[in-house]
Amino acid sequence: MSLNIFVHMLLSISALAVSIVAKPVRVESYVNTDEGLDMVSSVVIGSEAAMIIDLPITIGKAKELATWIKAITDRPLVAAFTSHNHPDHYLSGASLFDEFPGIQYYANSRAAKEIQGEAAMKVEYWSGIYGADNVVQNTTMPMAYDFGFFALPGDEDSPVYLLNPLTGDTIDETLFWIPAIGTLIAADSVWGRDLHLWMADLLTRALTESWLATVEFISDLKPLTIVPGHTVSNASFDGSQDFNHTYAYLKFWQEQIESRGPDYFTPTEIFDKLSFEFPGLLTSNSRTILNRLNITAENFGRGGKRQVHYQPLATFNDSTVLEGWLW
Ligand SMILES: *[C@@H]1O[C@H](CO)[C@@H](O)[C@H](O)[C@H]1NC(C)=O
Ligand SMILES: *[C@@H]1O[C@H](CO)[C@@H](O)[C@H](O)[C@H]1NC(C)=O
Ligand SMILES: *[C@@H]1O[C@H](CO)[C@@H](O)[C@H](O)[C@H]1NC(C)=O
Ligand SMILES: *[C@@H]1O[C@H](CO)[C@@H](O)[C@H](O)[C@H]1NC(C)=O
Ligand SMILES: *[C@@H]1O[C@H](CO)[C@@H](O)[C@H](O)[C@H]1NC(C)=O
Ligand SMILES: [Zn+2]
Repeated sequence: MSLNIFVHMLLSISALAVSIVAKPVRVESYVNTDEGLDMVSSVVIGSEAAMIIDLPITIGKAKELATWIKAITDRPLVAAFTSHNHPDHYLSGASLFDEFPGIQYYANSRAAKEIQGEAAMKVEYWSGIYGADNVVQNTTMPMAYDFGFFALPGDEDSPVYLLNPLTGDTIDETLFWIPAIGTLIAADSVWGRDLHLWMADLLTRALTESWLATVEFISDLKPLTIVPGHTVSNASFDGSQDFNHTYAYLKFWQEQIESRGPDYFTPTEIFDKLSFEFPGLLTSNSRTILNRLNITAENFGRGGKRQVHYQPLATFNDSTVLEGWLW
């Protein structure tokens, strides 16, 4: 046997050995129920370290989450990543960081800037709802992170791809795609089948179109598992039930409500249309679902109470810009 062939064989055997031994990362998710607004936090656990995606709105929920993380892994939590600018995904993160010293905290640069711009107002608002002692008053700001992926130490063969800036229930969201296990952590681009979606940021038709484009892109990735941004139960994350619910909800919104033009329906009519089309949701275990539907109905209904927005969402009216990724 020539040396060349022998070396080649050795290399193939070692490549085989690595592919058998190397275990991909795994994902565990936690639903922050009740005051956590049913937001889903996910931990990506590797061979040497772990990281967390999305941090609760209250200190109480952050403490609960920290306890759960310590129970499911003894790997050090080296980083946290917030998917988008909504406060239910970052506001009391600092309280969790107290339990995991040395953690690095990130968001994509646009979301980081948006959070920087509105955190103080969100602290004030949510302190009024949940109490100042249950909301971190001095928000820790995420550092801008704009690599297209990251890898945990020892798990370079299971990279986590960061898909951003994409439109979900607001602008500039990051979705987390892990091809090694066919898992997509969808942030608020996919909502659990048991919830009404947060529509109040979709101030233009282009934003709705762009959210739908994100959802269609997700379908082309063919994920085996989709972790939604909100759900009442994490019992069975598969690739289609929450996805189908989100798609149907957005299509219904676009075709039956938004297409009629602003102020066409009253708030009560919007409320009734959505609860009729998606029956049974209001009796789910979510404590906040009614409020979420109410805000949607009021924000778009004639004479309704408008949601205060700190991002200039009405200016996002050009889908070629929002879907700049679609060449
Ligand atoms: C669901 O959440 C519970 C805690 O709420 C957790 O123990 C469990 O691992 C989660 N399941 C999945 C599939 O992520
Ligand atoms: C707020 O947090 C920053 C960063 O952790 C810290 O430097 C600053 O002293 C804190 N300010 C207050 C008023 O606690
Ligand atoms: C989701 O929708 C697709 C396409 O309409 C369908 O084939 C699939 O069965 C649906 N999945 C569920 C769980 O309803
Ligand atoms: C939303 O909630 C407010 C406060 O409870 C209520 O006055 C209003 O009628 C509700 N709107 C709808 C459309 O249900
Ligand atoms: C889109 O928004 C920009 C900035 O607010 C405005 O100047 C423009 O007229 C809008 N275009 C359409 C088609 O609404
Ligand atoms: Zn959210």
